[in-house]
Amino acid sequence: MDRPERAFFGARVVVLCTVSRCLCSCLLALAKSSKLIEPGTSEFSCNSVDTGYRRRVGSLRGGYGHSAAIPGPRDVMAQAEDPDGSVASQMCRQLACSYGPVFTVVAAGKRLTFVTLNEDFRAFFTSKDVDFEQAVQEAVHNTASINKDCFYKTHPTCATIIKGRLTPGNTAMLSVHLCEEFNDHLENLGSKGTGQLNEIIKSVMYPAVMSNLLGRCNSPSNSLKRQEFLEKFTTYDEGFEYGSQLPDLFLKQWANSKRWLLSLLRNMAIRAQETLYNENDGKTLLQHLASAISDKYLPNYGLLLLWASLANAIPITFWAIAFILANPEAYKIAMDQINIALRDQDKEKTRVTLDDLQHMPYVKWCIMEAIRLRAPGAITRKVVRPLKLQNYVIPPGDLLMLSPYWAHRNPKYFPDPEDFKPERWEMADLEKNVHLEGFVAFGGGKNQCPGRWYAVMELHMFVALILYKFEFTPLDPIPKPSPLHLVGTQQPDGPCRVRYKHK
Ligand code: HEM
Repeated sequence: MDRPERAFFGARVVVLCTVSRCLCSCLLALAKSSKLIEPGTSEFSCNSVDTGYRRRVGSLRGGYGHSAAIPGPRDVMAQAEDPDGSVASQMCRQLACSYGPVFTVVAAGKRLTFVTLNEDFRAFFTSKDVDFEQAVQEAVHNTASINKDCFYKTHPTCATIIKGRLTPGNTAMLSVHLCEEFNDHLENLGSKGTGQLNEIIKSVMYPAVMSNLLGRCNSPSNSLKRQEFLEKFTTYDEGFEYGSQLPDLFLKQWANSKRWLLSLLRNMAIRAQETLYNENDGKTLLQHLASAISDKYLPNYGLLLLWASLANAIPITFWAIAFILANPEAYKIAMDQINIALRDQDKEKTRVTLDDLQHMPYVKWCIMEAIRLRAPGAITRKVVRPLKLQNYVIPPGDLLMLSPYWAHRNPKYFPDPEDFKPERWEMADLEKNVHLEGFVAFGGGKNQCPGRWYAVMELHMFVALILYKFEFTPLDPIPKPSPLHLVGTQQPDGPCRVRYKHK
């Protein structure tokens, strides 16, 4: 093994050797690794890294005119160990402490360069030397069967349509129908019961959001269909990170759920065309997409949209409610605001307007705090031209990684970062949609999450409604976040049963 030869790039390089594991499991293993050991003692064999770039970097350094010494390489092996509950944040903390603020992990033949300093986030989000589409194309191909050419051709138009349909103004229009849907599905829970909080939330939010974004006729219409959807979507979502890296043949059950969902979306796309002029509330998001994408790929983009709209927002709803229920003081303040804002409304058909939501700022802070604490483990860009960060030059081809989850644990921006402190959001001007400095849960730049206004409105309304209508008794302590979801927001890693009673 020719170690010094491999160590060259701007960022320090950590070689995580594995051919047989997928990228995600490498990262997870690394995240859970409690120690980094010196070369030669790992059980894994080495991947090779392109050493040719070293010469090019040498000349580019001059070209970019920065003479600062590039730190010498420290090329180490990371040994994967069994988990003990730590996640992306621990990985970043360990590696940033050992290797500096910009470091590269080589995993499954891919170079992942992590950016950990807030002052570099701007370059991550806005530099012309990095690209979103190239970073996610392979994952899109694996998870939604959209081929490369089609993706590059249609993604910009799709992204523009989705962004345009989910502006704060359009989100406000969607809120009226969403509230009706939440009411209907919450009433299906019955007058009392016991269940997993996560499942209760999914059983209401999945069909309500699908009806709201894809059309009433495209929401599962009875409890059997809802159950079937819930099972297939959960399988798809839980395997998403592996599915985004591996061909279908390695993940049979996951691939089946993908096929099932694609066929469901195919039927939805047909219905969306048929009912183009029947829906009372104007065109749905799916119908808007239909105007830009050929029939062939509409179900595939529909699946991506469906996943993006459910996979992050629903676990966050779980955390928001779990945190509020576990904090008596937070619960009291939230309930006081909710009860005053909704006064003595009909508990079966409770109307929550955006004006009502404005009278519950504390509930919104709780939601923002839940998003902060359970933000996505990683977002990514592909480096397309040499990118200078700090004293480093990152070569084209690297995947640039930023962990919102870890960034939100920086005490400079979020004092007592591990604590659930809704009141820290008092400093943000949320009415003007201004978040706290250092908050990057929705990404940034032109590919920032287009569903962010919708997500916050949806969560705010749902949490207010469910707490107004039902009384909850938690039966389990709050679970830890699962380390399985490195890319998206974290799911609960264990049971969280509640007893509930209609008020
Ligand atoms: C709390 C909930 C949510 C979180 C934390 C979240 C977070 C994110 C993040 C981090 C990205 C990538 C941004 C980047 O790389 O800079 C993203 C992309 C995206 N999100 Fe969200 N999101 C949430 C809810 C939603 C909802 C409710 C929708 C739809 C209604 C949505 C639709 C999308 C779409 C379509 C993309 C891909 C954009 C593109 O292809 O350019 N998200 N989201």
